[in-house]
Order: sequence, then C-alpha cells, then structure tokens
Amino acid sequence: MSSRFDEEIDRIGTHSMKWDMMEARYGVSPDTGLPMWVADMDFRPPDCVSAALQEMVDHGIYGYFGDDRAYRAAICWWMAERHGWTVDPEWIFSTHGLVNGTGMCLQAFTQPGEGVVLFTPVYHAFARVISAAGREVVECPMVMRDGRYEMDFDAYDAQMTGRETMVLLCSPHNPGGRVWSQAELRAVAAFAERHDMTLVSDEIHHDLVMPGQRHLPMAIAAPEIADRLVMMTASTKTFNLAGVHIGNVIIPDAALRNRFAGAMVGLGISPNSFGLVMATAAYSPEGAAWVDALTTYLDGNRRLFDEGVGAIPGVTSMPMEATYLAWVDFAGTGMTAAEFTRRVEQDAQIAVNHGPTFGTGGETFLRFNFATPRARVDEAVTRLKRAFGDLQ
Ligand SMILES: Cc1ncc(COP(=O)(O)O)c(C=O)c1O
Repeated sequence: MSSRFDEEIDRIGTHSMKWDMMEARYGVSPDTGLPMWVADMDFRPPDCVSAALQEMVDHGIYGYFGDDRAYRAAICWWMAERHGWTVDPEWIFSTHGLVNGTGMCLQAFTQPGEGVVLFTPVYHAFARVISAAGREVVECPMVMRDGRYEMDFDAYDAQMTGRETMVLLCSPHNPGGRVWSQAELRAVAAFAERHDMTLVSDEIHHDLVMPGQRHLPMAIAAPEIADRLVMMTASTKTFNLAGVHIGNVIIPDAALRNRFAGAMVGLGISPNSFGLVMATAAYSPEGAAWVDALTTYLDGNRRLFDEGVGAIPGVTSMPMEATYLAWVDFAGTGMTAAEFTRRVEQDAQIAVNHGPTFGTGGETFLRFNFATPRARVDEAVTRLKRAFGDLQ
C-alpha cells in the first residue's frame, strides 16, 4: 500500500492552506518551495471515506443531519478496537473540530480571568484560544531530559496561584512527539486533582503513533479523575480530513456533560453532515488497515528526515514517538533564530512552523511536517544539507 502514499498529488490552486497560503505567510513560492508547516498530510484518505462522500454527492441533497447513531457507534468501535477504551455513545459531542472543542471547554468549565495551564512548548492554537476567550495562559515549561520533554511537577506546584481552573494536555504531544507513559499521565491527573482543575486531554494525534509505541487514553490511565476529565479525539488528523472540521469531545461524567451541552446550545453548534459521514466511514476496518500502512510509511519518512538533519552539525531532531511533526533544534548551530529561519525558508525554500509560536521553550526550534511523499522528504533533506553546508 505504500505506493499510495508515494503519489505526488498537485494541491496548488485547491484552496489548500498548506500550499496556497505558504507564499503569503512565509514568502516561499509553491512553485519552488516545499510546504512543511501546517499539520495536514499530502495523502488522500482511505477509499471508504471518498466513497461515502461520493454517495452523498450522487444523492445530491444536503439537508440537516439527523440520527447520528451510526456515527456514535463508529466512534465507540474505534476507541475500543484501537485504544482499548469503552465509550458510551451518550458521552460523545460532535464539535467543529478540536480548536472549537477547546474554545467550548473554556466557555463551559472556566470563567474570564481564570488561569489555564499549558505544558509548553505546545500546539500554538491553545494559547490563542485561551487568550481570545479572556482567560489567562499559564505556561508550565517542560524540561528536556535525554533530549526529550518531561514534566516537572514540583516546579509547577510551586507556580500555581489558586486561580488556575483548567489544564489542557496534548497527548501524544505536539510538537515534542512524546507518547506519555502511564506514570506521566497519572502525574498530570494527580496535578489536576491537587489544584482542583478540570483536565482536558487533547488526544487528536492518538492514532499517529510510531510502530512499537502505544498511546494510552487518559480515561484509562487515571479512571479515578473521571469527574474532572474531558477527552478530545478526532478522525481528522488521522485520516487527513481537517477541512471538514469535525471533532469528538467525549465526557464520561454526567455533570460535566450537562455543562458542556449548555455551552454548545448557547453557541448554536450543530453537526456538519459531511464530517459525520466521512468520519463514520473512516472509523472502520478498512480505515484501520489504512492507518497501519500510514504509520509505517510515516516512520520511514521520520528515519529519512532524522538521519538527514542529524548529519548537519548542531542540528537535532527530537526523538519522535508520535505525530508526523519533527521538532528540530538549531541551538547547536550558534545561529540566531532569524538566521537559521532565513536559511530554511529562503535558501532551502521550505515553509515551516516557527518555534516561538509554541510558547516558552520553542525559541531555538522549527517544526517540520513530513507527512508528504517520501521523495519530497528526500528533497527537503538535500536542500537543508545544502543550506547549512558551511557547517560541515
Ligand atoms: C493538539 C492539536 N489539537 C487540535 C488541532 C486542530 O484541531 P482541529 O483541526 O480539529 O480544530 C491540532 C492540529 O494540528 C493539534 O495538533
């Protein structure tokens, strides 16, 4: 199946953020450049997804969606089959993606002025949504041990002021690529409990773990905190459906569910039929086989990318256990951020996400998305070696 991922599909002129906005955002033309920024993949989803959409188009009527039992059942099947987690269909809310889910959690479970804890560096939209909602971003910087991120709860305990009411965890972690261990997840849960915070666990990358790694849902790792836990998952990152904007917010606790339901009604959120139909098709045995092939392919890209950039003196790609987003540290080059970014964007013509947007700790990093045909990853490595050739 890997040949399917090798196909270079032209996305220019398709309103793709990744390809059609790279020039405006980074000054890198799609004609000469390689987009390795925003987290979507240059792959088509499994055929079952396109077939389900085609069936809708053939029918040709796009009225309000009702009866979402098949959709809920598909999510429950996926969580049990792929993650060993038993979900009650009644626990599931369908949002317009997980950034939207995050915003709704803020409305449902926090008040303006309260603090929301992030373990930084972390996915940049979290801080943006928290600040825009008038809540305070409380950065708890991670520490690097043996080249990978860990959390330091003694420091975080000392930092808490009592105004923090929510902690937002990214599991697996974007951009660090960590699959958190059971002990680490339990430590986050205990931290949320000690400081009486709602714990929102964004597990959008849960299917994108490297072969040999196993993601553990927070709901399984720490069942004793179910009364303060909100789980968020999605089919969109896994199957490359980000444009249909659909996400699952799964809340085992009835009281939290009532509050979330109120926030949804208050904002007038109702499901998008395209997302529901495509996600239902994706959460299937065919979808599962496709994901297995995908993660094997991504692992091959990861090796190629890491070996390539690892050969550049002073440049280190953080060891990845999950995601397709390489977190690359340029600190060892001794260059300023402006200089290494200029070399990547202008000399190598590669559009990437800038480390500081992920919060404290991201200053010397760039994030590279390698979910693209392998030939492009190979080309990126060649260009990067050339752009930093004077360091050899
Ligand atoms: C941790 C995390 N949450 C949420 C999102 C985006 O979610 P959505 O497209 O469903 O809003 C991303 C996208 O990269 C992400 O990395």
